[in-house]
Amino acid sequence: MTDARVTVHTEATIDRIAPEVHGHFAEHLGRCIYGGIWHSDSSDEEGFREDTLELLADLELPVLRWPGGCFADDYHWEDGVGPQEDRPRRRNLFWAQGPEETPEESNAFGTDEFLEYCERIGTEPYLAANVGSGDPQEAANWVEYCNYEGDTELADRRRENGREDSYGVKYWGLGNENWGCGGRMTPEQYAREYRRYATYVGTMDNLLVEEDLELIACGFEGHEWNRRFMEEVAGAPWGTEFPLDHLTLHHYYGQGMTVSEADDEQYDRFLADALETEDHIERIAAAINAVATTRDIGVIIDEWGSWHPEATADNGLEQPGTVLDALSAASVLDIFNDHSDVVTMTNIAQTVNVLQCLVETDEDDAWARPTYHVFDLYAPHKGNEAVQTSVSTPSRELEDDRELPLVGSSASVDADEAYVTLTNLDCHSSQTVELSLEGTEPAEEDVSGEILFADQEPDLEVTADNAAEFGAEQLAVSVDTDGTLTTELPPSTVAAVSIDQ
Ligand code: AHR
Repeated sequence: MTDARVTVHTEATIDRIAPEVHGHFAEHLGRCIYGGIWHSDSSDEEGFREDTLELLADLELPVLRWPGGCFADDYHWEDGVGPQEDRPRRRNLFWAQGPEETPEESNAFGTDEFLEYCERIGTEPYLAANVGSGDPQEAANWVEYCNYEGDTELADRRRENGREDSYGVKYWGLGNENWGCGGRMTPEQYAREYRRYATYVGTMDNLLVEEDLELIACGFEGHEWNRRFMEEVAGAPWGTEFPLDHLTLHHYYGQGMTVSEADDEQYDRFLADALETEDHIERIAAAINAVATTRDIGVIIDEWGSWHPEATADNGLEQPGTVLDALSAASVLDIFNDHSDVVTMTNIAQTVNVLQCLVETDEDDAWARPTYHVFDLYAPHKGNEAVQTSVSTPSRELEDDRELPLVGSSASVDADEAYVTLTNLDCHSSQTVELSLEGTEPAEEDVSGEILFADQEPDLEVTADNAAEFGAEQLAVSVDTDGTLTTELPPSTVAAVSIDQ
């Protein structure tokens, strides 16, 4: 018996799925950079960790945001360039850890290390400039150091530091959570700061040889804040030409729930919290569109993912990597696909060891977490045209009156195939799903599928020893004579079906 029906409207295109929607975020926090990406912060053991680097390179991350987070608004980029032995050691104001760990920033990993890393893993850098405790000159100088090809002191300093050519950094964030750790500003105050920064950084546009700079402002999950910011930033003297390309917000979920101790209702609430990402996208887009009637401004979710009680500043925001977290990521990626007309980038937090990281490390090894496999399974969507899906699914009513739809889906097409991803958010029961594509009657040989987590419980935590068990397996899909596909999704699974066209 069928539980859920998914219809893919292959002609009802939404927009191209920006590859940057599969982006990532790495902050100087806990073991993300030092220990995760870079061997250590001591000068006798320097360099990129090859094991982490290989895992990230294999995943083909489209974009990586750095250096924060809250750290960004306390970071002065000049501390992190030049000979390592001359770089100042500073306290890490926001992410000072417990007594066992160093609360200090060695600056061993700075701009040139980060940008070289991006090149080595084949990803586009996204730099977050300091608005909270910095100034516009410092931000504009950073652009010049990274991108200028002429003969200035800053461009020459980059050359002396070993980099002849411009790095061509395109994405520039002006501040991070400036309503909170980035200066506790009102929306009007941040808008005025943003305009000052955008004037100087935006005017550096001609220093990037091949592409325009894209300027990114930070927004908030309280959407009245976003509306007020937009109104102020768009006011005179800019008129309609204000220099803003993207507005961001952050959405974390799971703060009240330790996965290993949670009951079924808490699982459902956690997944429903993840699905609220959709509401935030629609509301921030509405705040943008109410003001920006003459130009496109994209929505970026530049921090998202689970944040469980285990992750505290004392432990460098570390928490176990579970199947349940990975399931939530799949649902959120489906939402991004469905909103590809407004979502221009997203960055899950954080790449290595911190929060819902994709890669975890210890002294000896690096391994993929379940969420890594979700990104891998969803990778064929990148750059495709998203198309609408209709999903008829059973749902569960939650104690807080919300409804959790148990089966989710999104779909995209390119010239040769349709790619459909499916989630079963029911952590106890299988769901039989019927899938049809409008205007297509595929034969058996046109169809193939993969599934994740069919053999794992939702609370299973990844370790160095079991990490190999989380990879994709073949999904059985039957094809009816009328081209309808049927598949069974075991509890808490994520699947993908490709259909040759
Ligand atoms: O990702 C951890 C922190 O969460 C970031 O530094 C901050 O931007 C957010 O509050």
